[in-house]
Amino acid sequence: MKKRWENQNLCGIGRREARTSFYRDSQEMISLNGEWRFLYLEAPELSPQGFEKAKTDEAWDTIDVPSVWQLRGYDSMHYTDTEYLFPLDPPYVPTKNPTGIYKKTVYLSKEWTKQDTILRFHGVDSAFDVWVNGQYVGYSKVSRLPSEFDITNYVNEGENDITVRVYKWSDGTYLEDQDMWWLSGIYRDVELINEPKQAIYNCAADGSLDESFKDGIFTADITLKQAEGEGNYILEYNGNKVMQGDFRTDDGTVHLEERIPDVKKWTAETPELYLLTVTAGQHTIQVRIGFRKIEIKDGNFRVNGQVILLNGVNHHDYNPKEGRCVTYEQEKNNVILMKQHNINAVRCSHYPANEYFYDLCDEYGLYVIDEADLECHGFELVKNYQWITDDPAWEQAYVDRSVRMVKRDRNHPSIIMWSMGNESAFGCNFRRAAEEIRKLDPSRMIHYEGDYEAEVTDVYSTMYTRVKRLEEIAESKSKGGKPHILCEYGHAMGNGPGGLKAYQDMFRKFKRLQGGFVWEWYDHGIYAEENGKTYYRYGGDYGDFPTNENFCIDGLLMPDRTPSPGLLEYKQVIAPVEITKVPGKKTEILVKNYYDFRSLDCIVLNWALEEDGMPIQEGTIDTLHTEPHGKEKMTIPVQPFELAENKDYYLRVKACLKEDELFAEAGHIISDVQFLLEIRRDVLTEREKKEKLQIWEERGFLTVENEEITAKFHTVFGKLLSIEKGGRVYLADGPEMTVYRATIDNDMYKKHDWMNKCFIQTGSERTIHFDCKEMEDKVVITIGKYFGCVNQSWGFACEYEYTVFSSGQVRVSIDGKTVQRGKMEPEFLPRIGVCMKASKDLQQTVWYGMGPGESYPDSKAASVMGIYRNTVDGMHTDYVFPQENGHREHVKWFGLSDGNQTMLCKAESALGLNIANYTDESLEKARHPHEIKKSSHVIVHLDRHHSGLGSNSCGEEQLEEYKVKRQDFSMTFTFSIVDAGKEIKEARKQYLD
Ligand code: GAL
Ligand code: MG
Repeated sequence: MKKRWENQNLCGIGRREARTSFYRDSQEMISLNGEWRFLYLEAPELSPQGFEKAKTDEAWDTIDVPSVWQLRGYDSMHYTDTEYLFPLDPPYVPTKNPTGIYKKTVYLSKEWTKQDTILRFHGVDSAFDVWVNGQYVGYSKVSRLPSEFDITNYVNEGENDITVRVYKWSDGTYLEDQDMWWLSGIYRDVELINEPKQAIYNCAADGSLDESFKDGIFTADITLKQAEGEGNYILEYNGNKVMQGDFRTDDGTVHLEERIPDVKKWTAETPELYLLTVTAGQHTIQVRIGFRKIEIKDGNFRVNGQVILLNGVNHHDYNPKEGRCVTYEQEKNNVILMKQHNINAVRCSHYPANEYFYDLCDEYGLYVIDEADLECHGFELVKNYQWITDDPAWEQAYVDRSVRMVKRDRNHPSIIMWSMGNESAFGCNFRRAAEEIRKLDPSRMIHYEGDYEAEVTDVYSTMYTRVKRLEEIAESKSKGGKPHILCEYGHAMGNGPGGLKAYQDMFRKFKRLQGGFVWEWYDHGIYAEENGKTYYRYGGDYGDFPTNENFCIDGLLMPDRTPSPGLLEYKQVIAPVEITKVPGKKTEILVKNYYDFRSLDCIVLNWALEEDGMPIQEGTIDTLHTEPHGKEKMTIPVQPFELAENKDYYLRVKACLKEDELFAEAGHIISDVQFLLEIRRDVLTEREKKEKLQIWEERGFLTVENEEITAKFHTVFGKLLSIEKGGRVYLADGPEMTVYRATIDNDMYKKHDWMNKCFIQTGSERTIHFDCKEMEDKVVITIGKYFGCVNQSWGFACEYEYTVFSSGQVRVSIDGKTVQRGKMEPEFLPRIGVCMKASKDLQQTVWYGMGPGESYPDSKAASVMGIYRNTVDGMHTDYVFPQENGHREHVKWFGLSDGNQTMLCKAESALGLNIANYTDESLEKARHPHEIKKSSHVIVHLDRHHSGLGSNSCGEEQLEEYKVKRQDFSMTFTFSIVDAGKEIKEARKQYLD
C-alpha cells in the first residue's frame, strides 16, 4: 500500500498556494501555541480508531507547542552530520516511524465564523496530516516552510477540534539531511487567521533603483482572494507619506509601479525602510520596502552599484533547551550580537528561518542568503551522491522547496541571494529549481555550492577552501569568471578558528573574492544538569549511534550565549575600520575604511598613550571623513612626555560609534588596536645582597637556603623540586619540558600521529649531569637532561641552569638543542615549553601580557598588552568539549598569589602562559567540563613556542608560520616571592647580572 509520506510527488493535499509573508496584518488571529493533547506512537498505523474525532477516550498526554518531542521525553535524541538514520531506499522510510498525534480544542465566536478560517503552521517536522472536527483537511511537508489550510468549511461556532498527525520520517526526510539533531514535531508557531471573504492574498513588493541609483522604482503585484475588488495603498518613509493611490480589479490581480525620486537606499549599513500599507475591503496589510539594486557587473556582484564584501556567519535555528524552537527575542538578540561583532551577512543554513528573522535583518541591516530546506548529504557516503538530485522523478520535490521559499520571503530587501540548498551534489533537479527561481524573481542572485561548475548559479561558491587554493581562484577567471564567495569557512569548532586574518586579507586584496561566512554562529549543545552543575550535551551523550559527537559544537557563540574568543577574534579581523601604524612614524596612523557605503563621519577615534597598558594620555579625534573604500593618514596628538624607568609605551586606538545606532550605543567599539612604541628607558640596578646561602645535601635532596628563600633540588632526578619561603611552599614542582597540549578539535586529524605514534604526551627527562657551584652571593646549579617521548628517536638535549641569589630570586635558564637519530617525527609540535606546579592556595593571578581573554599565535587580534588580574579558574575558557584553552600570548611576567604573598615570575623575553587548576591529562580525558578532574596543584605552562589553532576540524590547517617545528630553543625566567600588591613594582626591576 502506498503511504502518503512515502511519495515524493505528493507535495501537499489541500495546502494553500505559498504566498508572501506580511510585516503586519490587520486580520484577527488566534495563536494555537500552548498546550495540546498528545499521543505518541511507534508508527502512524498504530493510531487508535477515531483519533481524528473530537472526542477520544484515550488517555492522552499533553505537550506544549511549539516544541520538539525529543526534548519532551518522547522518542530519542540523535545527532549525525551526514548519515541518515535508516537504510537508503528513497522514497521509503522505516515502518517504525515515530508519530505524534496532536489535538486541540478551539472556541470560535459567531462573529469569527462570518469570515474565513485559515489554519497556519509555520513549521512542522517532517510531514503531517490535518483533521478538523473529524474531517480530513489535508497534508503537507517541508519542515522549515509554512503550510496553510483553508478550514472555513470544517469549522463552526463554538468548540472545534483540530487534530494533527506528525510523522518523523517521510520521503521529505531524504531532502532534510542537514548536519543537526534529528528533531520532530510542531516546532514553530501555529495560528488561526480570521480572513475576510475579500482579502489580500499576496503582495509581492519590490524596491529597485534606476540606472543612476538615485530614484526608487517601486513595484507591487497584489493578488486578492476574489476577482472583483478595489483598494488603496500608501507608501511612507518615517511616517511621512511618499505616495498613495487606489486600485480596482476584476481579475483579482493588481500591478503597481511608481518612481520615487531621491529615494533613501537600503544597504546592510544603512537599513532604510519604507512602509507600504495596502487596504482592500476590511483587510489591511503592511510590507516594508527597502530600495536597493543587486546586479552583477564586470565579474562582481554589486549592491546599489557598489562592489560589497560579505563578512558573514552561518545561522541555524537553535536553542539549547528547545532544540530547533527559537523565539523572536532570541533571534533579535542574535541579530544584534552579529551587528555588534561587525558581521554584515548571514546565510540561513540550511533552510529558511522563521519569517521574523528576515524582518530583523531588514531592520538592523544584514545581507542574507536565504537557503531552501534541502540537503541529501548521506548519499555522498554511499558514492551515489546524485541518486535523487539527478532523478527527474524528484524534480517536483526539489522545485517546491525553492519556489515556496521565494514566494514567502521575496519582500525582504535583506535577501540578496536565493540558495537552492546544501550538499546534495548537482543534477537536473537543481537546473529546474534555478529556472523556476529566475522566473519568479530575476532581481536576486542564485547560489548553490553544490553547483561546482557554477553552471546555473550567479556566484561561484565553495566551502572550506584553503587559502592557497583561494588565491588561485582569485587570480583566475574560472567558472565563467563569476564572483566568488566562501559559503562556509573558519570552522568554529571548540578552540578556534585561528588563521582568519589570512582569509580576510585575501578577500580584501582580490576583487573576485567577495567574502565568506564562518561556520557557524551557535553551538548546538543541549542543556543538562548534573549534581547542580550545568553542562551541554552533544551527539553520543544519549547513546545515539552512529553519531558525529561534538561536531555540532562548532559555533562562535557558546550555548550559554557567551561570545567565544573566536567571535571576538572575528570581530576584530573583519572590523570595517582598519587602523595601522605608518612605518617609521611614532604617532602617525593610517585609517582605512572598509565600509561599502558609510564614510567614517560615523566614527570617532579614542586614543590613548599607554604605559605598560595603562593610559597616561588620552584624546578623541572626531574629524574623520574617509569615504567608503578610502583611506586617511593622521597624526595622534601625543604630548611630549617623560619616559619612566623600565616601562613599555603603547599607542592604543579604538574606533567607536559616534552616535547611537539601532544595534549599539554611541561609544560602541568597532575596532581596537594597540601599537608598541619602540621607546624604552632601561635602568638596571644591582641585586640586593642578603645573608649567605647555605647548601646541604641529603640522599639526593639538595637544599639551597637563606632567610629569603629555600630552593630544593633533586640531584638524581635532576630538577628543581620546590621554592619555599618562611616555611611555605610556593612552587611545588619545578619546570620540566613538554611538547604536548590537550588536543583541540582543530587538531583532530593530527591527534592520532601525535598521541599514538609519536606519543608526545609521554615526554620525560633523563638526568645527564648535576652540578652545583657556590659563588659569592649566589649558587648556580646546572643540570643536563635529555627530553624524549616513548619509543622516539627525536628529542631535546637540555641544559637547565638555576641561579639562586641571596636576594631570594631564583633564575631559570633552559637551553634546548634538538636531536634526531631516526627518520620519524611529528610534522610539528603543539608547543615547546615547560610545565610546573604551584601551591594550590595561590588562586589569584596577575600578568603583564596579552589579554584579557585567551590568545594564540594565529588568533590574537582581539587581545592587547596590559596588566590583568584574574583567578586561576577565571583563566579558563569553558569549551563544551574540554580541550586546551586559556593560553595567553606574549607574557612578560605573571604572579600567583594567595592575597598576601605572590610568587612572581618574570621572563627575560616574553613567553606563552597557561595557568589552570587541572593537568593537561585530565583536560584531555574529560568529555564535559564538569568531568575535568581538579589537580591538587596549580598547573603552570610557560611556552617558548605554541602552535596556532587553525580550523582544520573542517578546513584550513594551522598556516606554516603557526606550526611549531622541532627546533633549538631557550628561555629564561626568574622567580621571587613578594608581598601581594608589590608585583608590578618588583616586576619592573631590571638587574645588572
Ligand atoms: C559543511 C556543511 C555544514 C556543516 C559543516 C561542518 O560541510 O555544509 O552543514 O556540516 O560542514 O560543521
Ligand atoms: Mg552536510
